Order: sequence, then structure tokens, then C-alpha cells
Amino acid sequence: MAEKIPTLKADASDETALAALEEYGAVIIDDFLSREALHAFNREMDDLLETERDLERDFPNDAIASFFGDAVRHVTGVAGKSKMFVDHVLCHPRYLSICDHVLLPNCADYQLNIAHVMERCPGSEAQFLHRDEWVWKRLPKLSDEVQIASLIALTEFTPENGGTLVVPGSHRWEEGRYPEPHEAVAVGMPAGSAVVYLGSTFHGGGSNRTDAVIRRGIHVSYALGWLRTEENNCLSTPPEVVRGLSPRASELLGFGIHDDLGVGGGYLGVVELAEPWKQLVSDR
Ligand SMILES: [Fe+2]
Repeated sequence: MAEKIPTLKADASDETALAALEEYGAVIIDDFLSREALHAFNREMDDLLETERDLERDFPNDAIASFFGDAVRHVTGVAGKSKMFVDHVLCHPRYLSICDHVLLPNCADYQLNIAHVMERCPGSEAQFLHRDEWVWKRLPKLSDEVQIASLIALTEFTPENGGTLVVPGSHRWEEGRYPEPHEAVAVGMPAGSAVVYLGSTFHGGGSNRTDAVIRRGIHVSYALGWLRTEENNCLSTPPEVVRGLSPRASELLGFGIHDDLGVGGGYLGVVELAEPWKQLVSDR
């Protein structure tokens, strides 16, 4: 019997959330988004997902196409398309406090890795269980985490409709151990709750075995600031959007620099030898 993933109330302390994350590799946080923010964000996504209905995506290869399957609808580049995301998700205090503790010891600053809304429609199949940190498979195995990931339920998640499968405790496993099916727990949580997990925790999207229920969620993850991100946030966020962002939001989207001179390193990401956001301001 697999262990359960702990569920915390929205006002749980950061210490409690971090302790749960460290022990289980994942934690569910109820009411991560307010009712109002959830409703407004879903309204923004409705139209975007509707245009996806007939979209033929040009995935780079068959393996990526197969990973998502053809019963999943996507909204990518969310920061460039959703003010609610920028205002209520990107700089969510819980994300930032977890990233401060888990990622900041290993970088000058962390960054958004990807924000990706997915609707798992009836018939969508389970993803293979994986560690998200595998996108940097060539990185020598570090003892520390390089990524914090999450899924926010935008509609209710159940074991039947594609609720995320998570393998509690798998962040501690040695390389080479792969989970047995019975070791995965399907996350059930109401809309507005989130499951936050480490980049080293095995997980995967569940299969939607319902006839008519569409499961909508947003995958949000952050990574060390010196890694290449899954999504090219600087290109997917239009300049006119970036100019309206808070300084912190623009840094998280890669429009700052990663300055490691303080520890004897170098700097990354400059434009004209300065922070990219300065270029955008001067273009105004
Ligand atoms: Fe994943």
C-alpha cells in the first residue's frame, strides 16, 4: 500500500510545508488559489482552450507527441496570455518561500521553468512515471534539488479523471530504481488546491477514464537560474506584457540576469551587457 501525500491548509506555516515536502517529496496545499482568482483564471483559459480544440500541434518529434497524447489540450506561454497568472500564480508567496529554501542555496536566483495549462480529456492515457529533473539528464547528479514543480487543480482532480500520480518518498530513491504501479498515489483534490513536488519525485499525469469529465490543471515549475528552461519564457512573453510586469515577475521570467559574481562565478543572460528588461524599457 502506497503512502499518502500530506494535505495542508492554505495557512499552514512554511516550515510545515517544507517539512512535508522533504519527507514525502510532495505536499498538497488546499485553497492555493482563492475562489475569485480560480474563477477568473478559468474564464481566461476557456477561450484559449476552445481555440485549441482543432489545433494540430507541431511537436518536435513523435516521442513528445506521444508523451502528451492527442486527448490533451494545452495553453502554453501562460505569462504572456494571462494577467491572472502573472498577478496570482507566478509570484505566489508559497511558491517563492519554497523556492527560497530549496533552490536559492544553489543559485543566485531561480526562474520560472514552465507554466503549462493542460486539459486531460476522456481517453487521455497516463504518462510514464518520471522525474521532472530528467529534462536536465546530462547534469551530473546533485545531492540538492534543481527544480520545484506543481500542479494546480483548475477543476477537481480525482483518481478517475486523470489526477496526477505521485510516488511518495521517491525523491530519496537511488538512481536506477523505478516505481512499481502500486507505489503511485493518484492525487484527488478540489479545484484551487495544488500539489507541489520536488524535481526528483516520481510522478506522471493520470489517465482520464471518465466518459465526459475534462480535468483541467496548470503545471508550474521553477528551476535554478543557471539552467536552460523548458519553455523559452523570454520569447513566449511579448515585450508589451513584460513592460507592465513587476520587477520580480520579469526576473522570474528571465528578463533579469543570473549574477554569480558574488561567489566567484560569472553572469548569464545579458543583452547589450545589461539586464534584458532594460532593453525593453529603452525600446518603449
Ligand atoms: Fe512531469
